[in-house]
Parts: sequence; C-alpha cells; structure tokens
Amino acid sequence: MTLSNLGKPTAETCILVTGGAGYIGSHTCVELLNGGYKVVVLDDLSNSSAVCLERVRKITACEPEQLIFFEGSILDEALLNHIFTQHTIDAIIHFAGYKAVGESTEKPLEYYWNNFAGTLVLCKVAREHQVNNLVFSSSATVYGDPETIPLSEDCPKGTPTNPYGHTKSMIEQVLFDLHASDPHGCIVLLRYFNPIGAHVSGLIGEDPKGIPNNLVPYVAQVAVGKREHVGVFGDDYPTTDGTGVRDYIHVVDLARGHVKALEWMANTDKACVEVFNLGTGTGSSVLEVIKAYEQACGKPIPYRVQPRRAGDIAVSYASCEKALRVLGWEASFDLVRMCEDSWRWQSNNPDGYR
Ligand code: NAD
Ligand code: UD1
Repeated sequence: MTLSNLGKPTAETCILVTGGAGYIGSHTCVELLNGGYKVVVLDDLSNSSAVCLERVRKITACEPEQLIFFEGSILDEALLNHIFTQHTIDAIIHFAGYKAVGESTEKPLEYYWNNFAGTLVLCKVAREHQVNNLVFSSSATVYGDPETIPLSEDCPKGTPTNPYGHTKSMIEQVLFDLHASDPHGCIVLLRYFNPIGAHVSGLIGEDPKGIPNNLVPYVAQVAVGKREHVGVFGDDYPTTDGTGVRDYIHVVDLARGHVKALEWMANTDKACVEVFNLGTGTGSSVLEVIKAYEQACGKPIPYRVQPRRAGDIAVSYASCEKALRVLGWEASFDLVRMCEDSWRWQSNNPDGYR
C-alpha cells in the first residue's frame, strides 16, 4: 500500500478502526465518514455497544457500505486476515485496548495480553498484507511524572506507574523498532492528554461501566443525580488552588486530530514514524472543571476533598506546537463547551447506551 492511497479521500479510501465502537473511536468514525472515508470497524464490544455505531450512522447519514462492522478481537489472527483480504485497507487507526488504570494493576496479564499482544498480532497481520500506515492511541501517561511543563514530544519518557501505562510505552517502542527494521509507510503515535466531552448531537459520548475512574464522567454522574458528590483527590498540590491540573481536550477535537494525521501521511513523501501530543496547551484544575460543569448544567455540583490518589501527578499539560506546525491541527473547543457537550450526552442518556 502506498501513501498516495491516502490522498484526497474517495468513497474507496478505507480506514480500519480498531476499537471503533468505543468513546474516542466512535467520534473518530464520525469525523472520518464526514471526511469522505470508508470505515471498517473491528471491536469486540468488551467496553462498548453496537448501539453506538448505529448512532454514528444516524449522525453521519452514511450509506450502509461506508461503515462496516466486524465484532471480534485484534487477537484473532484469522479474523484479521479475513478483514485484510476482503477490504483494501489504506491505513489503520488503532484504538482497541483496555484502559482502566486501576484494573490494570489488578489484572496485569489481561492488560499485557489484550493491549500489547493484541497490537503485535495486528501489526503482524497488517505487515503480511502490506498495510504499513498506522495511527496509534498513545497517552500522556508515557511521560510519567514530568520535570518540565508544558510537555513537548521531545521530553524524555518517564516510568509509568501501572501496567496500562507500560503497555502504551512498550507499544510505542515496538512501533519505532518495526519502522526501523522495515521503513515502509507512516506510523503516527498520538499522545492524548485528557479527552472529555461528547458529540454535539448528544447521541454518542463516554459510557463508563460501573463507578467512573476519571474526573469528568464522575462529575457528570453527580450532575445527573446518580452520585452524591465528587471526591476531589487532594487539595495540597503546588497549583493555584491546590488541586490537580490537567489538559482537558474535547473528544471531537481529538477525533479531528486523527483525520489530520491521515491527511499529513498522504502528503508526506517519505516513510516515517512521528509522535504528536494532542491537547489544548492549557491546564485546568479539578475545581475549575467542577465550576465549568456547574455553568454548563446550571446546578451546583457538591464535592468533598479527599486524600490524594496514589500515582497521581500534580500538573500535566501539553505543548501542541508540533501538531499545529506539522499537522495543521489545533484544538478549538474550550472547557465550558466540553462540559456543555458532556452534559447534553449525560442528561439525554443517563444510563449510557443501555
Ligand atoms: P474505550 O474503552 O471506549 O474504547 C476502546 C474500544 O476497544 C472499546 O470499544 C472496546 O470494546 C474495544 N476493545 C478492547 N479490547 C479489544 C480487542 N482485543 N479487540 C477489539 N476491540 C477491543 O476507550 P477510549 O477512551 O475510546 O480509548 C481508546 C484508546 O485511546 C485506548 O487505546 C486508550 O488506551 C487510549 N487512550 C484513552 C484515553 C482516555 O482518557 N480515554 C487517554 C489516552 C489514551
Ligand atoms: C488517568 C490515568 C491515565 C490515563 C487517563 C485516561 C491515573 C493515575 N492516570 O489520568 O493514566 O491515561 O486517566 O484514562 O489514573 N480526580 C478527582 N476525583 C475523581 C477523579 C479524578 O479529583 O473522582 C482528579 C485527579 O486527581 C486528577 C484529575 O482529577 O487531578 C484528572 O483525573 P482523571 O480524569 O482520572 O485523569 P488522569 O489522572 O489525568
């Protein structure tokens, strides 16, 4: 497969989206379909629902053959072979994996197997079919506890504090090694900061199972009355109000970053492996997020300060200069808009896709 296959997309330019029924994957499918690509989703529905893809069809009004769904795992070599044989895949966007940090500490084998071994299987079969263009979902977690802020792509990687983070860091290394051994195509590693928000339609959004681990899904459930108050994990960090600071990015901006990465791949004239941060470049504290959500939903969000959460860092936000300079991408939505879109999804779908 040559990079030119990725040129101006036609209805035949086909992207395999692993984990495409998930939170970020579904929003990326919307942007791909709106951009004129054909999308093949492979998802085992271990953390998602087929209803989500029906909603993607509704939002984009796509023709049935523009969005094809295979229910199954990236670990299933035979299924992958079938997909690559049936469809001429021009590039892969690889989201599939487990993502619960705490759970990864309890079930390391499952995380290394699914995320790490699964990626090896995917890469092996893709190479056998000469599919060499890949965008991978990495995470700011690979920077560990950073010494300098904002984080740029050339900041040294740190030591992840959990198996989930290790899988991201290890997969990045595999992709560098793979490219060095056989430099065909383009590999893009996207290090996401903190994706939040939902599609403006209110039809798709984040649907965590059980008690949410992440801040905004938790705040959303308090706002909708499912939980009593938010636990603020520490107010004694060296930040303006003492609470942790993160770079929250609207999931639609993030999704558009993937489309920009594909466009860039199509226009670059050499094989490459490149890393990009996807964030806004702005840090917000836990209390600022709660305030923004209150503004968005029009009601108070009760909270209580609790001890720090193990493994948390004080401050993390990105320098996104490289993504702007190279990809021509930058985030466009502010924190209040992220909360408004989260609230629309949460209030319209209090039980997610169930
Ligand atoms: P998600 O759980 O909503 O989506 C992941 C999807 O992958 C799910 O639909 C799940 O069913 C599917 N999946 C899991 N294992 C699979 C397998 N073996 N084969 C096929 N499908 C499989 O998570 P998300 O938030 O959309 O995250 C997408 C990717 O981005 C993940 O790799 C995650 O680690 C990464 N990431 C997420 C965040 C975040 O805050 N959400 C931050 C940084 C990186
Ligand atoms: C966490 C993971 C990170 C992962 C990311 C996306 C840890 C240590 N880090 O990032 O590896 O890539 O999710 O899945 O788990 N907070 C509260 N109360 C809550 C929840 C969070 O105060 O109920 C605070 C946290 O202390 C932090 C901020 O809110 O300061 C954001 O937390 P969260 O949404 O979990 O994201 P990260 O910790 O940045």
